[in-house]
Amino acid sequence: MNLLGMVYFFHFLWAVPVLFFSKATRGSDISRFEVNSLPGSPSLPTSWAGRLPVPGTQKGNNLFFWLFKTEDVAYDDDLIIWFNGGPGCSSLIGMTTGNGPLSFVGNSTDLALNPYSWTKLGHVLYVDQPVGTGFSTASTPYPAENNADVTTHFTQWLQSFLDLFPYLKSKNIHLMGESYAGIYIPYIASALLENTNPLSLNIKSISLGDGSWGNAAAMADVAMGTYLHIQAHHLRIPKSILSAFITADNFCGFTETLKKAQEYPPGSKFRIPGNPENMNYRRDLRRHPRRDLTTAGDGSCNINPINASGILDSVLNSTCYGPCATFSTAMDYLTTTSALGTGPPCYDVYDIFHNCSTIDSLPLLGEYFSQKDVQKALHVEESGPYSACNSTILGTLLGATSPVPPAYNLLPTLVTKHNLSLHIYNGKWDMLLNHIGTELSIQNMTWRGGQGFTERPHRLFFADNAAPADGSSCRAGAGVWAAERGVSYHLFDGAGHSVFASKPREMFSFVRDVVVGRRA
Ligand SMILES: *[C@@H]1O[C@H](CO)[C@@H](O)[C@H](O)[C@H]1NC(C)=O
Ligand SMILES: *[C@@H]1O[C@H](CO)[C@@H](O)[C@H](O)[C@H]1NC(C)=O
Ligand SMILES: *[C@@H]1O[C@H](CO)[C@@H](O)[C@H](O)[C@H]1NC(C)=O
Ligand SMILES: *[C@@H]1O[C@H](CO)[C@@H](O)[C@H](O)[C@H]1NC(C)=O
Ligand SMILES: *[C@@H]1O[C@H](CO)[C@@H](O)[C@H](O)[C@H]1NC(C)=O
Ligand SMILES: *[C@@H]1O[C@H](CO)[C@@H](O)[C@H](O)[C@H]1NC(C)=O
Ligand SMILES: *[C@@H]1O[C@H](CO)[C@@H](O)[C@H](O)[C@H]1NC(C)=O
Repeated sequence: MNLLGMVYFFHFLWAVPVLFFSKATRGSDISRFEVNSLPGSPSLPTSWAGRLPVPGTQKGNNLFFWLFKTEDVAYDDDLIIWFNGGPGCSSLIGMTTGNGPLSFVGNSTDLALNPYSWTKLGHVLYVDQPVGTGFSTASTPYPAENNADVTTHFTQWLQSFLDLFPYLKSKNIHLMGESYAGIYIPYIASALLENTNPLSLNIKSISLGDGSWGNAAAMADVAMGTYLHIQAHHLRIPKSILSAFITADNFCGFTETLKKAQEYPPGSKFRIPGNPENMNYRRDLRRHPRRDLTTAGDGSCNINPINASGILDSVLNSTCYGPCATFSTAMDYLTTTSALGTGPPCYDVYDIFHNCSTIDSLPLLGEYFSQKDVQKALHVEESGPYSACNSTILGTLLGATSPVPPAYNLLPTLVTKHNLSLHIYNGKWDMLLNHIGTELSIQNMTWRGGQGFTERPHRLFFADNAAPADGSSCRAGAGVWAAERGVSYHLFDGAGHSVFASKPREMFSFVRDVVVGRRA
């Protein structure tokens, strides 16, 4: 918090609850949503939680929200809306693993306050969506058949939510999310801004972290060989295996594409050769099942390649995955070598530096939020067992008969026409949606009259703007960044798929300075 913020904070401390309350309650009764205390938790910032129906849908479709009032009045103008991905994962994951006010202590359901909570940088709204996710409920049969339904449900719901909290309508809104939210967010922002929507909201920025917003084939297959090469040492990949991936990249035409992506600024659009793993949207209208392992049992496809010929066979001639399957082959190789003890122990595609002592927080969320007293405190009593991610929803949306056009088609309009700031960020240790694929996708995008960045991202950023106390210049950077024409990119060192989980302090500075502070 800067000094000005401090002064404001103390000056207004006494007055705020009154102002806030009187404004907030005008015309609607939010007191029934107030969260008074949470079992086993230190005292929380003022918050409201519960479910609201999705207008225009069958009875039984309700989205769960948890809204936190900003802890610092200097940020009263900002509203951050956080989305986890999946599809089908609860936003309470982000709330309890590094961006919200609470964190689990070690491998227990004990709770502690998170000093890097984004609630110090604005009002923060967590929503479990699509319907049926986390504490949200869904009618039967499941009504969110595709991404268009998901977008409509959320935007309609948001309208009734804002009717309940009307003072939020005028805030500067920042849509932030990770992973599959790389698809949710551009679609939601477009629906709110492009359509003749009765909500005229002040959407200032969108932030996509380790997001699946690019072409799936490009992000997964084209990028994989290069990523393995960069991380070969840590992933314990011998030269012979790397060579097999290089051969595969050459054969599949990826090398050519990657080479073009290394030019700053890029000379032209990058072609995705062939239809790797049948993932290329434009050529994927027949929708082959992607990971159909029914033939694995009869030996016609090897899901445990451990040597160079096994790798080449799996990439080039696999009956499991379709052509040029570098992504699935790399996954198979690493899970196999990890299990055999020759690869990285307890290999985790979300963060390649995770090991066998890394705590998996999803079961902790499951345990804590299934407690009856916790559900009562959040006004969702008798919800039954809570689970952080729902695989039925994931299966439904990923298997939708009409594939979602990549969200990158929508981004240039959001930036160029609507003047949204677009912040793209990645954790370097995320292999699933790795930074090579993200950088490739940025460089292939055209916005505000130019394609990609004109310079390779190389400037260092730091966890805090303050100069080092000893005047030295040898502070460790948090990563590298670039920003041009309203688009920023930050590559975080030492973080996986969920950047704030391993780098909460660095991420806090990023949200404060770049997202809310609009430095880039
Ligand atoms: C997942 O969502 C579906 C659809 O709403 C629901 O039928 C199912 O019970 C959910 N599963 C879990 C484990 O919550
Ligand atoms: C680059 O963009 C072009 C045109 O939008 C598209 O056809 C191509 O598939 C994209 N390539 C990658 C690598 O995303
Ligand atoms: C490669 O591994 C397969 C088992 O996946 C084995 O059958 C084959 O003999 C190995 N080839 C070489 C050259 O070691
Ligand atoms: C893949 O199959 C083609 C024929 O379809 C064959 O020529 C090639 O040798 C095979 N490659 C490998 C690595 O088995
Ligand atoms: C596992 O990772 C943690 C955190 O990065 C590290 O402190 C620890 O030494 C690692 N343990 C092993 C056995 O490598
Ligand atoms: C965390 O606790 C669970 C349940 O007791 C256990 O299965 C898991 O191994 C523990 N994780 C670690 C990293 O100790
Ligand atoms: C576009 O947004 C930037 C802040 O990111 C602002 O400085 C500028 O005035 C805006 N331009 C228009 C035309 O609204």
